[in-house]
Amino acid sequence: MANIILLGPPGAGKGTQAKRLVDERQMVQLSTGDMLREARTSGTEMGRRVADVMDKGGLVTDDIVIGLIEEKLSSPASGGFIFDGFPRTLTQADALRGLLDRMGQGLDAVIVLQVDDAVLVARVTGRSTCGSCGQVYHDRTRPTKVAGVCDQCGSTDLRRRADDTEEALKTRLMEYYKKTSPLIGYYYAKGQLASVDALAEIEEVAAAVTEVLDRRKECSRLA
Ligand code: AP5
Repeated sequence: MANIILLGPPGAGKGTQAKRLVDERQMVQLSTGDMLREARTSGTEMGRRVADVMDKGGLVTDDIVIGLIEEKLSSPASGGFIFDGFPRTLTQADALRGLLDRMGQGLDAVIVLQVDDAVLVARVTGRSTCGSCGQVYHDRTRPTKVAGVCDQCGSTDLRRRADDTEEALKTRLMEYYKKTSPLIGYYYAKGQLASVDALAEIEEVAAAVTEVLDRRKECSRLA
């Protein structure tokens, strides 16, 4: 069992790698982005506020996302949790530490997916996501085998995200550098940080992530 964080700017490949780990290692993906996209369809005032912030590329308030994560952590995960897009601020990182402490658990690795900003516009504007199973595709780098049909579940409900525009990406990146990138130093200081070259092909990135997890497992076995 391992609890890990996937850290990186919008479009770095966090969701893509998280889905592979779910399939391969029976881990549970906790994506605050997915949770918030679900919350925005609720028709409530909170849902409308969340939608407005997300579409512009800003960050939703810490108390809302911490509450969502706290709720999900109450369900068991025998393979461990993958935190995808959470934490995104130092407040969220401190809250996560407190929540895991309470469960008698810790973090096994914080994996930073390193990319150049230059590739991110192409990554997010070419992305589509299956509305039924959540599988992530890209028009060029990871197309579906049959156009418009999800490889995984056969659904034809392939969606584009409202915040996957060049303009919203600028704000998302600014938020990442201002509020999320300080977490790299935070986790480095705790000795939990590992970096992976996420400019490589999806399969190569997956192999590098697996190597980090296997190395951490070996270290904790020897400790
Ligand atoms: P969220 O949904 O978390 O979005 P994000 O962090 O901006 O990340 P993305 O989902 O855009 O990218 P990804 O890294 O998962 O990349 P993916 O694998 O899809 O958050 C959305 C919004 O919700 C935020 O802006 C904020 O408003 C709010 N929010 C969420 N969490 C929050 C929090 N904790 N606090 C406050 N607010 C929060 O890949 C992208 C594309 O590239 C895909 O098409 C994929 O096929 C392709 N691709 C992936 N890897 C590769 C590769 N190696 N080579 C080529 N193509 C690749």
